[in-house]
Amino acid sequence: MIYLEKNTLEIGLQKPLKILHITDSHLPLCSDNDREEMIRQSKQRDERSSLQYLQEQMAYGEEHCDVIVHTGDLIDFISKPCLEFARDFLKNEKLLFIAGNHEYAKYDGKTEDMTYRMSSLQEMGGGLGVDIFFNSRIVGGVNFVGIDDSYHQVEEGQLIRLKKEVRKGYPIILFMHAPLYENELYKKSYDFWHGEICVVNSDSTLHPEVIGDMAEPYASTKLFYEFVTNEPLIKAILTGHLHFGFESILPGGTIQYVTNRGDKGNAREITLI
Ligand SMILES: [Fe+2]
Ligand SMILES: [Fe+2]
Repeated sequence: MIYLEKNTLEIGLQKPLKILHITDSHLPLCSDNDREEMIRQSKQRDERSSLQYLQEQMAYGEEHCDVIVHTGDLIDFISKPCLEFARDFLKNEKLLFIAGNHEYAKYDGKTEDMTYRMSSLQEMGGGLGVDIFFNSRIVGGVNFVGIDDSYHQVEEGQLIRLKKEVRKGYPIILFMHAPLYENELYKKSYDFWHGEICVVNSDSTLHPEVIGDMAEPYASTKLFYEFVTNEPLIKAILTGHLHFGFESILPGGTIQYVTNRGDKGNAREITLI
């Protein structure tokens, strides 16, 4: 049985549109040939229940929703069985997807940053068959825009592409893996992750406890944050990554949904009206 949070959001649509939001399925499929650490991680996770929950969530979305959005960490690491599963899974036409940090995870002990992402993409033979870095699609008069911010940073090129999407004039639902900074969410995330910084645009001028280059936002990340929190066409943001559920109001008034982990059966249904 899946656990559904339900929300309704008024954005002035002629006809309601139902979204199923799934995130953080962390499928741990692997074979004996995979890296030892992947096999060890796989044993700690429950392959059967995460797969089963994902299938139940997808069945619900297919039956009751107009669009299904998965905000990353679909797989736990880039083993051959995980990649094969993901490539096939992402062919579903009702599904929109953006990468999470685990879409690049190799469990090889190296620092996971932008360079790491490029080397993982190469190891993956170019990716998962869809653009997991930036993509967009208009469904029922709403523009769904996905941006990979899985290392808590957004690049200049992604911001340029987002601005291009805004110029199309449709209301936008942004979907990303990691959520944007907002004080209450920051506090909860900081406690939940025992001091690790998991929220985009956590600035050390505001929070001196922020340490490490992963957490300090790039100039492009700051510009992205400014843009998103001030753009009236962006009606809501769907995110995951934190492994708990939360609803934030960002500066400027935009609502941000953080959805709880899918591998424990959670998903969110949002009705846009
Ligand atoms: Fe995750
Ligand atoms: Fe994540």
